Amino acid sequence: MKRPIEHQEDLSIIKDLIGVEEDTIQKSYFPQLRQKIDELDRERTKYLSVFNNALNGILRITRSGDFYDYNPALALMLGITDGDRPYNFPRDFLNDPADFDTILQNCSGSGTITNYEVNLKKTDGMPVIISLNAHAISIDNLDIIEFFMNDITERIAASERLRQSQKMEAIGKLAGGIAHDFNNLITSITGAADMILAEEGIGGDVKDYCHLIINSSEIAADLTSKLLSFSRQKSSGKVVLPLGDVLDQSLTILERTLDKRVILIKRNTAENDLVLANKAELQNCLINMAINGSQAMPSGGNLILSLENCTLDREKILLLDPELTEGAYAVLRIKDFGQGISREHLPHIFEPFYTTKDEGKGTGLGLSTVYGIVKEHRGVILVESVIGIGTEFSIYLPLAPDSI
Ligand SMILES: Nc1ncnc2c1ncn2[C@@H]1O[C@H](COP(=O)(O)OP(=O)(O)O)[C@@H](O)[C@H]1O
Ligand SMILES: [Mg+2]
Repeated sequence: MKRPIEHQEDLSIIKDLIGVEEDTIQKSYFPQLRQKIDELDRERTKYLSVFNNALNGILRITRSGDFYDYNPALALMLGITDGDRPYNFPRDFLNDPADFDTILQNCSGSGTITNYEVNLKKTDGMPVIISLNAHAISIDNLDIIEFFMNDITERIAASERLRQSQKMEAIGKLAGGIAHDFNNLITSITGAADMILAEEGIGGDVKDYCHLIINSSEIAADLTSKLLSFSRQKSSGKVVLPLGDVLDQSLTILERTLDKRVILIKRNTAENDLVLANKAELQNCLINMAINGSQAMPSGGNLILSLENCTLDREKILLLDPELTEGAYAVLRIKDFGQGISREHLPHIFEPFYTTKDEGKGTGLGLSTVYGIVKEHRGVILVESVIGIGTEFSIYLPLAPDSI
């Protein structure tokens, strides 16, 4: 039921609301009020549509960090499924409380903070990197900070991958250049030693020295060969072969050579495993990585070697390595339950001569060789590792085109 406007108080409220004089209100307040309500309704619909459908996370908190409200995109970004829980921004989501002080300081009065990068943790503990804009507003007489947030985790990861691959490219050029010249020198050195050995009437000592030169040169040649593999300057003969066979043969070698406390587990779900590859090189990769895995578990444990298929589309390629081509792949994974690799070491493990092992135990040439071989096969190698839990390396190799 509509109540007529009687009180002076009502009249002045309506006057403020619709901005017309009192006598006009008394005569014809209803249509204008209706119009104003419709207008507000439209504004509300527009506002709610933006709030609910924005891809940006929108979050409002009090100055003590308690949530006031947030939109669905924000809930998705931070993994919020329990809408009734009283969240607190610094307590539940910030890794570094100092970030909250910075935000508060910048958002006092009419101050704002723009494109501020901050590391958050989602409700499940997973890290997420956010770029945020924020400012202070007053709602319901409360001092509120309003945030607009973008999840830039993938963008940061992609630029880090690009930086990493440019770094590897540069190291590859340097290592390859040196190894190439060094190889030529080794050839002359061994050639000369061979010629001395062929001389008639040379003494036993000289022969011994010549053998020493030749043996050392072989070791040096092996080293340069690994560096050439890393820098992809070693062209290798490739044929179309089933990766499952490479896996089986590597397992046979590993069964004989690894510590018996390492339990090798094979999983093969690949329906198509034909790749254009060099068998010896891929075996070399698997053996290198399996040795690393077993060394990470000094008192033994499970080492899982698996083979599966997957399809990479544009989106996935951008995440993995922009140099890959779209299509069907075979994925070799080697998973151990060892000590894991720290964040400090992780960006360097594929560099030649990078080792965390004691002298005599590691050369730092295993993974760099694997990296070069995988790249040379137009594939990509990825690593995921958690300290104290274990490490998984995944090698993606494109399936041979004719086999698909
Ligand atoms: N499965 C693994 N678990 C833990 N750390 C690993 C693993 N694989 C490689 N690493 C780390 O990467 C480094 C480089 O490996 P690699 O190139 O094979 O050299 P090396 O084994 O001679 O040290 C290792 O020293 C080690 O720190
Ligand atoms: Mg190694």
